[in-house]
Amino acid sequence: MEVYRRLDPERMPRHVAIIMDGNGRWAGKRGLKRFFGHKNGAEAVQFIVETSSRIGLPWLTLYAFSLENNLKRPRAEVNFLMMLLRSYLTNNVQRMNDNNVRIRYVGRTTDLPKEVCERMQWAEESTAKNTGTTLTLALNYGGRSEIVDAVRRVAADVAAGKVRPEDITEADIDRNLYTSYMADPDLLIRTSGEMRISNFLLWQIAYTEIMVTDRLWPDYRGVHLLEAIEEYQRRERRFGGLNTGTESDDVKSLPDRELVL
Ligand code: IPE
Ligand code: IPE
Ligand code: MG
Repeated sequence: MEVYRRLDPERMPRHVAIIMDGNGRWAGKRGLKRFFGHKNGAEAVQFIVETSSRIGLPWLTLYAFSLENNLKRPRAEVNFLMMLLRSYLTNNVQRMNDNNVRIRYVGRTTDLPKEVCERMQWAEESTAKNTGTTLTLALNYGGRSEIVDAVRRVAADVAAGKVRPEDITEADIDRNLYTSYMADPDLLIRTSGEMRISNFLLWQIAYTEIMVTDRLWPDYRGVHLLEAIEEYQRRERRFGGLNTGTESDDVKSLPDRELVL
């Protein structure tokens, strides 16, 4: 692909996270029920997974189902999403193996229906030996509840006398998050134009580059991911510092009056 040749292999992101939004709007535009949007959205997932594997992306994290979706959407829609998840896993594990993709999950997944949990576990075990892209699906996931779960574990260590409160560091929180096996996302993409985070990876995106596209998730393809990476490579990441090549001001060389604010 043309855009792939334009990418700088030295500046590839290691972790891309995507808020897959807009399935309902995609269906609405066509006069279809929301279910059709979800079905086409599920089909788009595998394109993105395979593009990620082809470009050697180590981590791809997809927000598939939030805690709030579970609590606030009609039961019929939630049940349909659960059914779609099961069939996505059943139908795609072979392709994941063909593409050396490993699947994992983050979220309060034990609260999902038993038959969904079993399928998830089967897919995870069936792909556990793969060494290419790790696809992480965020399911029944909420960023705040993830932090609560991490804090509970740190608090248990404090109660057991393993760590003193004043010795708790960011690394202790990090290690107890669901995402402890990954680096923080370099790039966060949200489809369908909404300029919000919707409780996704709150801790981990402290310095992530954010990109919002108007394209609806069922229309999202590998080329769009590559275009997003191309834009990512034009961004200048600073992490609170100065951009490379900036000369630090030599305060002594300035006349005093220029420093008066
Ligand atoms: C994203 O699409 C998929 C899930 C949240 C499960 P939506 O269902 O949120 O679609 P819109 O935002 O209503 O278009
Ligand atoms: C975020 O989308 C969750 C997922 C994509 C799974 P939502 O559609 O739930 O977010 P809001 O409600 O518009 O903030
Ligand atoms: Mg939405």
